[in-house]
Amino acid sequence: LKRNFSSTTTLNNIVKNVTVIGGGLMGSGIAQVSAQAGQNVTVVDVNPDVLKKTEASIQTSITRVAKKLHKDDTAAAKKFIEESLSRVKYSPDAQKAVEQADLVVEAIVENLDLKHDLFKRLDEAAPAKTLFASNTSSLSIGEIASVTKRKDRFGGLHFFNPVPVMRLLEVVRIPETTDDTYEAMMAWGKAIGKTCITCKDTPGFVVNRLLVPYMAEAMKMLERGDASAEDIDIAMKLGAGYPMGPFELADYTGLDTGLFIMDGWHKKFPDNELFNPPEIQRKLVKEGKLGRKTGEGYYKYTK
Ligand code: NAI
Repeated sequence: LKRNFSSTTTLNNIVKNVTVIGGGLMGSGIAQVSAQAGQNVTVVDVNPDVLKKTEASIQTSITRVAKKLHKDDTAAAKKFIEESLSRVKYSPDAQKAVEQADLVVEAIVENLDLKHDLFKRLDEAAPAKTLFASNTSSLSIGEIASVTKRKDRFGGLHFFNPVPVMRLLEVVRIPETTDDTYEAMMAWGKAIGKTCITCKDTPGFVVNRLLVPYMAEAMKMLERGDASAEDIDIAMKLGAGYPMGPFELADYTGLDTGLFIMDGWHKKFPDNELFNPPEIQRKLVKEGKLGRKTGEGYYKYTK
């Protein structure tokens, strides 16, 4: 049954104050797009050095966006930068930072115990109305939410790297997520400029559930000697219209990240052969060849 979406304008207004926990790669991007869209944002990180870097990277990235948005209007670009930056606060104290939050988006390291510890504390500190979301790539939203008393106000908000560029947002419902929570999250996603899709709490949601086994199969093709990495990449770009081939994508996202996700799923679902990690990936990770970030993965990179 489709619900009437005439309430969208009101729902847009539910979320004004967002707290992003984790100021790393994803958290800084989520904070940036929220601030650009007029939200008041607090970014939290346990590491004060990270917080300084987060501030610098948000500044650089917003400046880039402003130049694109207001090409011929320096004054407008300056105003956009100043106003966006003025909406972002930085804090090392998660509990304090959620006291005024309408929505909390968690983007800390991919570790269930750490996420549980965090959400237990946030659940005590945040007002009852506050919606909670996790940006996890590979863990179960239901398992993360299980330590809170607000599963009805919990969902997944899964962004893509780089957040300011990638337009998709996967909005994940667990069975307990109420329609109000879900609609508020969809409306918020739309308000910050993303195209939202909805998905159940299934491993990898939509994108990674399809991409991870696809990339694994490409690696198994390489292991079998069916074709070279270069030829497989060319094939998928020119034959399937993908912007990057599977090996270019693996090098871009990091071989360690890919292996970590597959190992986690394989352990949890040992009978699903699609989640069985290829040996070549494990070998490269062992050798420290993690992709672009280390200068070598399936390809070699010179800076
Ligand atoms: P990252 O390592 O760049 O950032 C994580 C940050 O969390 C670090 O700055 C760390 O100091 C901080 N942190 C750790 N424990 C904390 C705590 N208890 N409280 C506050 N801050 C804490 O990681 P990244 O790549 O930004 O990933 C974050 C989350 O986003 C993970 O769950 C990951 O699965 C997910 N994700 C990652 C994507 C990617 O392409 N890297 C894409 C989509 C989701």
